[in-house]
Amino acid sequence: MKPLNEIIRTNRYDVFRHTLRSIALASAAASGLGLAGASGCTEAHVVLPLDQGPSWAPMCSTEVSATDITGLPLPAGADGLIAYGTLYDLSRPQLVAGSFCVDGPERPDCSPGVPFDTGESFSIFIRRNGVVERVALDEVVSAPIVLPQQALLVALGAGYRLWCEGEPASGVNPASATPVAGGFEVVANRYDCFGLYEATLLVTEAGEVQVLDERLLTAIDCAVIGRLTDGTVAPARSAEGSDLGRYFAQVAGLEAAAVDAFERMAAELSTLGAPTDLVQWARASADDERRHTRDMGALAERFAVTPAVHPPQAFALRGLFEVALENAVEGCVRETYGAVVGHHQAAHAQDPVVRAAMAQLAEDETRHAALSWAVAEWALPQLSEAERAEIRAAQRAAIDALARSVSLPESDLLLRDAGLPAPDVALAMVQGLAAQVWA
Ligand SMILES: [Fe+2]
Ligand SMILES: [Fe+2]
Repeated sequence: MKPLNEIIRTNRYDVFRHTLRSIALASAAASGLGLAGASGCTEAHVVLPLDQGPSWAPMCSTEVSATDITGLPLPAGADGLIAYGTLYDLSRPQLVAGSFCVDGPERPDCSPGVPFDTGESFSIFIRRNGVVERVALDEVVSAPIVLPQQALLVALGAGYRLWCEGEPASGVNPASATPVAGGFEVVANRYDCFGLYEATLLVTEAGEVQVLDERLLTAIDCAVIGRLTDGTVAPARSAEGSDLGRYFAQVAGLEAAAVDAFERMAAELSTLGAPTDLVQWARASADDERRHTRDMGALAERFAVTPAVHPPQAFALRGLFEVALENAVEGCVRETYGAVVGHHQAAHAQDPVVRAAMAQLAEDETRHAALSWAVAEWALPQLSEAERAEIRAAQRAAIDALARSVSLPESDLLLRDAGLPAPDVALAMVQGLAAQVWA
């Protein structure tokens, strides 16, 4: 980690702020980057089954939740295909044909020059003469759709996920494709920031996708970023109301939780003998979070959703290592990312009231992020090398988790009126921070 707090303490806070704003404003233009590194190439240790035989049946490997679509006619010269769905969980392929090692140099995002397409909801790769290349959907499937393997690929191309994880609400395994009159009935999943849905689709012979039925399996909370302290649970998004109202009600809850986080931090820093300016900075940040709670709550009510009340909690005070660990993850990673998102929202929200609120919030969150780096600079030298290594590992895990969570799509209304980044833009922000701040 770069000693950014050094910059901040020497009255060069504007450099830190400029860095975060630049990442926010550049990311919209820079999206569509390759994702090597962000998705953890070295973490997959799975080799898909080599021989599934000539007959096709939906299959869930115990090692990887990919569905085998061997039997799909491949482009001339190709002997393997692997397809990934939405940006979420890039380490997990969804459809595979033939043999395809998902680790090592053959893994698509580890192959030089073969990045995922972050602007699409899917990425399909084939291997031809030992070389992995990304292909368009229409290079591997076209009408008429006469095979179940083709129907699954068409569903993937329509933004659905096809894997075999979890207990499906329908009792039918996701990734099934059943021949019916006029095409194939496909059971598949779809995510957005409000939930995981299971859909029954009709993939017609002409290659069109019709939604026959859709069921909410699980409510999901997306990467709405607020500083949380250990023992606090992030508020869930309410089940009812407008998208904007539900979103801002959740944000208001997180802001309220951040009050606790900073009050605890101030008390802990004081007990641990931190410089008074850090303690006062933490207290001032708690006051900011109180104001954010009111402002975001007002926005929720403007969109007809009442924010949940978050009563202040009492917390035990912890030792230096625990404080530094939480600060490294919640502050240096998550709140720093949250500040970048705030700047993006301040620049892109189409709703003028939202835009004005986010402009103020982004400035405050940038100061909170800077405080995190200042606390890290004070705390880390007092720890052992083993403790610092543990903190670095936790930060890397937090960055990885962040990269995954931001790749879930928010609804179009939230992208437009609240100015939230689309998944490819959000990932470009994570990558920008990884290169310029977390390196
Ligand atoms: Fe805040
Ligand atoms: Fe904050």
